[in-house]
Amino acid sequence: MKLQDKVAVITGAGSGMGKEMALLFGREGAKLVLADISQATLDQVVAEVKDNGGSAVGVLANVAKEEDVQNMIDTAVNTYGSLDVLVNNAGIMDKMTPVTDVTDELWERVISINATGPMRAIRKALPIMIKQGKGVIVNTASVGGLYGSRAGAAYTASKHAVVGLTKNVGFQYADAGIRCNAIAPGGVETNIMADAGDMNMESRGLKKAMSGAGFNPRNGQPSEIAKVALFLASDDSSFVNGTVITADAGWTAY
Ligand SMILES: NC(=O)c1ccc[n+]([C@@H]2O[C@H](COP(=O)([O-])OP(=O)(O)OC[C@H]3O[C@@H](n4cnc5c(N)ncnc54)[C@H](O)[C@@H]3O)[C@@H](O)[C@H]2O)c1
Repeated sequence: MKLQDKVAVITGAGSGMGKEMALLFGREGAKLVLADISQATLDQVVAEVKDNGGSAVGVLANVAKEEDVQNMIDTAVNTYGSLDVLVNNAGIMDKMTPVTDVTDELWERVISINATGPMRAIRKALPIMIKQGKGVIVNTASVGGLYGSRAGAAYTASKHAVVGLTKNVGFQYADAGIRCNAIAPGGVETNIMADAGDMNMESRGLKKAMSGAGFNPRNGQPSEIAKVALFLASDDSSFVNGTVITADAGWTAY
């Protein structure tokens, strides 16, 4: 098993990619701390991991809240005694809102969940990992973090921030035995669009963002992203650090 007895924290574990990562990591022997803002879905995923013979505890945590992030990481150490893998996966969309329409409220919410949350979790996790002399961080970025208009202004900026953070942490702490990488998924069939709420189909933001959608060979399944996360979380990727793996069926290769 690729993660035998590794202690892994996964945010946004109640749905989509985070859920599939939890199930896969659980099957691979990890001891899991699963975090989400939704207690109901979290409980279901924890139960499913345990039904499969895995080990998991759920923590209700809003990654935009410093005290929740602290508690989430403390739970890993207090429950299992260490922290080997941190997956910053929780994220929200911005309804493809272009900058002329973005409110401060939307901008701050998206940045705080998608970018500040991962920074705080990494800030809290690193001293533990440095002390151990090893640790792995996996961030779920997006092709929106590599290109200019796959989403709205706030989402695009937040995911570019995640890519920059990934590279910075990867290089800065490489000599401490830490690896930090990101995944840039293309379109993946999850609940993220539904959770973002109704969109104005005629809006500039949506029309412009969708103008390249025809080049997308296909959407992916969350389980296909979970397999990339497993690669990055495990020793299989021991020489991979400070970089981004795109998983998009070739959408951005055009
Ligand atoms: N689905 C896609 O097409 C796609 C593409 C590229 C990147 N991503 C990224 O993948 C990641 C996972 O998204 P998904 O598509 O699986 O979506 P999803 O909506 O199915 O799952 C996201 C989970 O995160 C949780 N969450 C939301 N806000 C949170 C917060 N503040 N604190 C803790 N948990 C929170 C939600 O409750 C949900 O369970 C996100 O970072 C997203 O930006 C998604």
